Amino acid sequence: MRIKKAILPVGGLGTRFLPATKAQAKEMLAVFDKPVIQFIVEEAVESGVEDIVFVTGPGKTAIENHFNRNEELELLLQKNKKEKELAMVKKITNLANFSYTRQEEPLGDGHAILCALDFLKKDESVMVLFGDELVDNNGGLNAAQQMLEVYEKTGDPVVLLGEVDKEETHKYGIVELEGNIITSIVEKPSPENAPSNLGIVGKYILTPKLLKNLKTTMPGTDGEIRLANTIKDYIQNGGVVRGCQMQGKRFDTGDKIGFLEATLHYALKKENGKAKQILQRFLEED
Ligand code: UTP
Repeated sequence: MRIKKAILPVGGLGTRFLPATKAQAKEMLAVFDKPVIQFIVEEAVESGVEDIVFVTGPGKTAIENHFNRNEELELLLQKNKKEKELAMVKKITNLANFSYTRQEEPLGDGHAILCALDFLKKDESVMVLFGDELVDNNGGLNAAQQMLEVYEKTGDPVVLLGEVDKEETHKYGIVELEGNIITSIVEKPSPENAPSNLGIVGKYILTPKLLKNLKTTMPGTDGEIRLANTIKDYIQNGGVVRGCQMQGKRFDTGDKIGFLEATLHYALKKENGKAKQILQRFLEED
């Protein structure tokens, strides 16, 4: 069955990005000229998703406002004959059918997904895109489309995987693969204990069977229910989960340096001449 729905969990605290995230959602930080979350919505829509459910938390109202109509702004842009800007603003609202549900407490990414399950039919698979992971495949299939290619061949759950630097394995769930089947996941291993250099990126396709397992996943010692633990248990109990090795450049915008990399990447892409000149000048002066 074609995947029409995506869950975007955006209820996290963003502690890695404080103080910027004290009063605003990290998902609304602009990568050059567009909020991170708009990139992610566009990715889902390009892959054929029509309905998007945001799982929000306290202090995340700007996300809802961004995808809602702003009639006052539209009228002003119209009055001032800013046609290009008006079209741009209207397009955001029409990207998809948006719904919102609230995660009252940030009890983990898995808990956030549980909060959105009422939006799904019993037999429906769903795309899950975390609110801070960007992948740019330079005009090729985007990350969501890459996962769908794997899902459509097998009907199994899919986890997007990206290559991780050896010294960074302690930040990720690292997988072991046989063909494209994930045989084990090691959480945040040291480089010498990492089974591979392939880390979980924060984009998934989840099937009804796997979602059933999420309902019974116990919180960890930190009190959080994590999707990675559900997937781990599912595999241990004989379930098949496919890894999709990502094509493209990946940016973790929930991390300050990852965000900087993303901003430079998209600035150089969109305003190549000017941005390059400024960067070169900075580097020469330093
Ligand atoms: P992160 O692991 O990046 O967590 O969540 P975080 O809490 O937002 O960030 P740090 O680590 O404190 O800096 C991955 C995705 O899951 C969402 C986040 O908003 C992000 O999109 N999430 C996380 C929730 O929706 N709820 C949660 O309880 C935790």
